[in-house]
Amino acid sequence: MADLRTTFAGIKSPNPFWLASAPPTDKEYNVVRAFKAGWGGVVWKTLGEDPPVVNVTSRYGAWHDGDRRVMGLNNIELITDRPLEVNLREIKQVKRDWADRALVVSLMVPCEENAWKKILPLVEDTGADGIELNFGCPHGMSERGMGAAVGQVPEYVEMVTRWCKQHTRMPVIVKLTPNISNILGPARAAKAGGADAVSLINTINSIMSVNLDVMAPEPVVDGKGTHGGYCGPAVKPIALNMVAEIARTADTRGMPISGIGGITTWRDAAEFIALGAGSVQVCTAAMVYGFKVVEEMIDGLANWMDEKGYKTLDDVRGLAVPNVTDWQYLNINHDLKARINQDKCIECGRCHIACEDTSHQAITKEKDGKRHFEVVDENCVGCNLCMIACPVPECITMESVSDHLPYANWTTHPNNPMRKMPTAAE
Ligand SMILES: Cc1cc2nc3c(=O)[nH]c(=O)nc-3n(C[C@H](O)[C@H](O)[C@H](O)COP(=O)(O)O)c2cc1C
Ligand code: SF4
Ligand code: SF4
Repeated sequence: MADLRTTFAGIKSPNPFWLASAPPTDKEYNVVRAFKAGWGGVVWKTLGEDPPVVNVTSRYGAWHDGDRRVMGLNNIELITDRPLEVNLREIKQVKRDWADRALVVSLMVPCEENAWKKILPLVEDTGADGIELNFGCPHGMSERGMGAAVGQVPEYVEMVTRWCKQHTRMPVIVKLTPNISNILGPARAAKAGGADAVSLINTINSIMSVNLDVMAPEPVVDGKGTHGGYCGPAVKPIALNMVAEIARTADTRGMPISGIGGITTWRDAAEFIALGAGSVQVCTAAMVYGFKVVEEMIDGLANWMDEKGYKTLDDVRGLAVPNVTDWQYLNINHDLKARINQDKCIECGRCHIACEDTSHQAITKEKDGKRHFEVVDENCVGCNLCMIACPVPECITMESVSDHLPYANWTTHPNNPMRKMPTAAE
């Protein structure tokens, strides 16, 4: 059986599945139940200074797909609204009772050295394994100069990280905001400040939807709404890209990464790990489906690793990173043609319409006076659109027809005015 034990930034856990800082990790009652269900670690709901913040009701909005699955969740919740002393007492107790699990404490206090200097020893005293700096919350706290207001300014990220490294022995994980044009800026700043690791992503600034009766953004709070933080399966592609950028860029490569964003199944987690994540964090899936989702994650990941012959997570971590490249290095000679499996086709015509209206008019719709869908190879540019539009799984597949052609890319293509000319030696 594959060994899922994880050491992340020096913090040990029996598996890489941690609950992200959010309502599932808000209190001892939740965290104990999560550990009983099998979670390898938690990042405690962000602590702040007393007096605690005050939350509003109507805090969440959601985007459902046609089967009422939550694809995206949006929240306007703030950090913990419980007194600091209560949280610290519970953290100490939980760490004492669950020594083998990772217990990281998320923190957000004003951007002043004294505020950090004051809270860090209190957290250290609980025996917690590490801290995560919440530089990501995009609503409410950012208006008070914290959260994303810090995370969006690399100089602040570096400065606060450095304070934390100076005033605590605990490992420091910097949680990055995706509300920025280039994730490498704050990631580099975290590294320069001495961070032991980064975690990403926090939530994405968003308006979930507009209630057209009330004429206000959802979630509506007594007739008004505000932008909130977006998460859940819909944000996974954004998170994967940001994780990959950090994992593949020369000066950030090798920084431990805790991958967060839309992780719902073991496969999502495996994708983050393949792109370089050393642990993964989950929020929305636990909020919608409960703590037991971790069972499928643990079993699924271990079974897949067994099937593939991977013994530990070190064997998987980062395997996909060398295959993430810039567009200009993609094989321009790689040619695909769509293939329709006539036995599976239900003759709905979606592929024809997609290709006819917006692609390359490469799918016929009738033969001998009957509905019949077939690809005309000369017109097909292998774009994948028909395969994506087809409602029947594996009815349309893409076949490579260029295996005999050599690799070539844009950097030397004759149409590229900036192309590299081959040297005499080449
Ligand atoms: C209701 C809610 C509250 C959250 N509160 C916090 C928080 O206090 N601190 C923090 O760092 N992130 C917070 N987050 C962000 C999550 O930790 C996580 O980064 C984000 O939800 C993406 O993961 P997911 O797609 O698995 O939900 C919150 C998310 C939600 C949905
Ligand atoms: S792959 Fe693109 S071009 Fe080819 S048939 Fe499908 S939609 Fe048309
Ligand atoms: S979309 Fe799929 S099922 Fe529908 S006609 Fe095309 S190949 Fe057949």
